[in-house]
Amino acid sequence: MLKLEKPISWLDGVDTSTGVIKQKNHPQKGISITGKTVVVPGSIGSTVGAYTFFKLVKNGSAPRKIVLTGPDSVTIGAVLAGIEVELSGSRGTKYKLRIKGVPERFVRYLEKEAEMTEAEEFIPVRSVHLSGISYATIGKAGLEFLREIHSSGVHFQTLTTTNPAGMDLERWRDMGVPGSFAEKQLEIVSLLTEMGAIPTLTCTPYLSGNLPLFGEHVCWGESSAVAFANSVLGARTNREGSVKGMVAAACGCIPLYGKHLERNRQPTLKVVLKCNLSGPMEFGLLGFLIGREFPDAVPLISGINKMKLSELKALSAGGAASGGIELFHVKGVTPEAQLYERYDTTSTLPVGKREILSLREDLSTFNSSPDLLALGCPHFSAEELLEFMKMVQGKRALVRTWIFTSRTLLTAFRRSGHLRILKTAGVEVYADTCMVVCPLERMGFRKVATNSPKAAKYLRSMRGVDVMLVSLREITNKFFS
Ligand code: F3S
Repeated sequence: MLKLEKPISWLDGVDTSTGVIKQKNHPQKGISITGKTVVVPGSIGSTVGAYTFFKLVKNGSAPRKIVLTGPDSVTIGAVLAGIEVELSGSRGTKYKLRIKGVPERFVRYLEKEAEMTEAEEFIPVRSVHLSGISYATIGKAGLEFLREIHSSGVHFQTLTTTNPAGMDLERWRDMGVPGSFAEKQLEIVSLLTEMGAIPTLTCTPYLSGNLPLFGEHVCWGESSAVAFANSVLGARTNREGSVKGMVAAACGCIPLYGKHLERNRQPTLKVVLKCNLSGPMEFGLLGFLIGREFPDAVPLISGINKMKLSELKALSAGGAASGGIELFHVKGVTPEAQLYERYDTTSTLPVGKREILSLREDLSTFNSSPDLLALGCPHFSAEELLEFMKMVQGKRALVRTWIFTSRTLLTAFRRSGHLRILKTAGVEVYADTCMVVCPLERMGFRKVATNSPKAAKYLRSMRGVDVMLVSLREITNKFFS
């Protein structure tokens, strides 16, 4: 038996060909999980991690059994890959769910999840947002899973939107994406679309028509969108794995537990901000710092007067990338914070400029000229596109510069003529994808500058490139003339 001392990032924390833990700073780095009963205290990082189980099983490197010490839907995804999962101390209540027209194992999965989480009941979901769309992330194992459920006639009955794919579906050749990759990526998108998903291909679904209202129950993947939905919109979702999303989309319901319940939305950590922050990079670093120090917390952050949409997106992405932060409250900013005005917790995390700057240094691995400047993690909003446009108007990019946004916004900006200004400045704007889920390393890039701490983490761990973390202001001063 192997008892993990810290939560694991399934997406990039385990070598899927050997089963060896490779997560940076994990106390059991270098130890194999293959063939063992592994006690897991939960997972952190991306919700795409669930596909790792299919890869582990395919490569013969899967654990024999997983014992979860607390509910974690990303890890429960192992059940669909045929790995035995149980919750330690579960009383094993039996649930019976009757849904017609969906694969039996989907229904059994939900029953198993309800049993392990001692769910109060099953509830209908208003929408699903699926992560795990890029072929660079899910690979052959994920594609085979999609082919299999597609051929078994699965159809999504709930509004289902999708996270970014591995390329701009229209301009993948301009990006330099290899044809062999494009073929697989197009197949993934068409399989999902034929099953009923709306191919929004963005990590900001709330800006592309999937906007849950306060108190509504949804089932979302994409860790940054989960934190945004819970914290900023006041909707309710757990951080769901991609396979769970498909099960929920087909069945239309989920077990009621975790962040769907009022009692689990109360703060567990006070974060006292002792300096002024501004811009997505700094707020992303704040989130990253909180997630790194207290991966499971519900932080109540004080010391902030107001925040912009771009900063809320960045805070959501940061805490979910370094930890498993699904929900935060910012006094005076987010809707549920007012419920906890006088709430007291035993843990407090003071944060000053020194901590923020030192984390920024930790996340950067080079300080020379980059060969790519990549912005839009999470996808740029209309406001960010306009702001950046103003910053670079009349200037010219000195390095190749990519911005990622949603297809919805790209189309509107193209129609309005705004994109011409960015094009004249030498900036390429792509939709449907992002710097982390496209196969950058296969396009020859080695040194990437970005303003996103989340992108900085995953560009290193998933794409294997060197990273420089820079603010938007520095970008226009350093990399535009
Ligand atoms: Fe979105 Fe890609 Fe970042 S999916 S949150 S832009 S890693």
